[in-house]
Amino acid sequence: MLEKINELLAETNNFISTSAEEIEQFRVRMLGKKGTITLLFDEFKTIEPALKKEFGQKLNELKTLAQDKIQQMKTSLEDSSDTSSGLDLSLPGESFAIGSRHPISLIRNEIVQIFARLGFTVSEGPEIEDDWHVFSALNFPPEHPARDMQDTFFIEKNPDYLLRTHTSSVQIRVMEKQQPPIRIIMPGRVFRNEAISARSHCIFHQVEGLYIAENVSFADLKQTLMYFAKEMFGEKTKIRLRPSFFPFTEPSAEMDISCNCNGKGCNLCKYTGWLEILGCGMVDPNVLDACGIDSKKYTGFAFGMGIERIAMLKFDIKDIRMYFENDVRFLNQFKAAF
Ligand code: DAH
Repeated sequence: MLEKINELLAETNNFISTSAEEIEQFRVRMLGKKGTITLLFDEFKTIEPALKKEFGQKLNELKTLAQDKIQQMKTSLEDSSDTSSGLDLSLPGESFAIGSRHPISLIRNEIVQIFARLGFTVSEGPEIEDDWHVFSALNFPPEHPARDMQDTFFIEKNPDYLLRTHTSSVQIRVMEKQQPPIRIIMPGRVFRNEAISARSHCIFHQVEGLYIAENVSFADLKQTLMYFAKEMFGEKTKIRLRPSFFPFTEPSAEMDISCNCNGKGCNLCKYTGWLEILGCGMVDPNVLDACGIDSKKYTGFAFGMGIERIAMLKFDIKDIRMYFENDVRFLNQFKAAF
């Protein structure tokens, strides 16, 4: 009997299986009602009392080993089946959707980078402004139509305050604080009381530019804007300056860039071959004086452009409302840009 027990101990020690069925068969064969170990316990009852101690110990050892072994096999089987049900740590991770930059941010960043190469730094100002910074200091006469309720959102509780209608207000804030040389661009959000359509919106974005120093001339303005146009729209781009009027610049101009149709005429340029992109001019001496800058000593130029318009031209966007609708089908298209 001792020999038999030793044989079974060896067999149990060597038993290894990854099949639930085999483990169960082993259990039945060893510990089942008619299992080998169970039968040995029956046989044990008939053994000589003198041998009982030695045999009993061995038999218990065998039973415990078999029970432990079966339990161990079952546990490792459960663990490994967990792995096959999706916890395989060697699988590559699941990728998640990465957002894209908004076209307005892309163009604003590009404008900032282009002017940074010419030594312009960025300044910002408040969106809720007062009449002085948006109109009066910029040489708007008191009866100027831009102050009209038609265009400007006033703050109801205190009509001295309003939502800025252009980023030119930031020029004033900077010049009030800083003496020339000043070389800055000022990106920001602006607000106008306009009906929303494919071409206009009540919220949009501008980038303002300002350069004040001694002996700054119109030629400097033109050269700066030409550099900008070529960097933004391509080396072959031509520019054209048309006389215009703004209260805060004298002389004033509007700048057009050549259309991609190469002057042949298309729907975009309305068959003129040119596209208007910004307003500009030499800063009016009245504006410098209003900010405490000596207009006899210093001159400068300023310009202002709409970011939505430039993004429309660059990305061929037909409707300004697309920028504000948060439609991911639209926004996802800018993943590849920059
Ligand atoms: N503030 C003007 C607008 O909103 C744009 C502009 C024109 C800005 C000429 C300038 C400038 O600085 O010199 O329409």
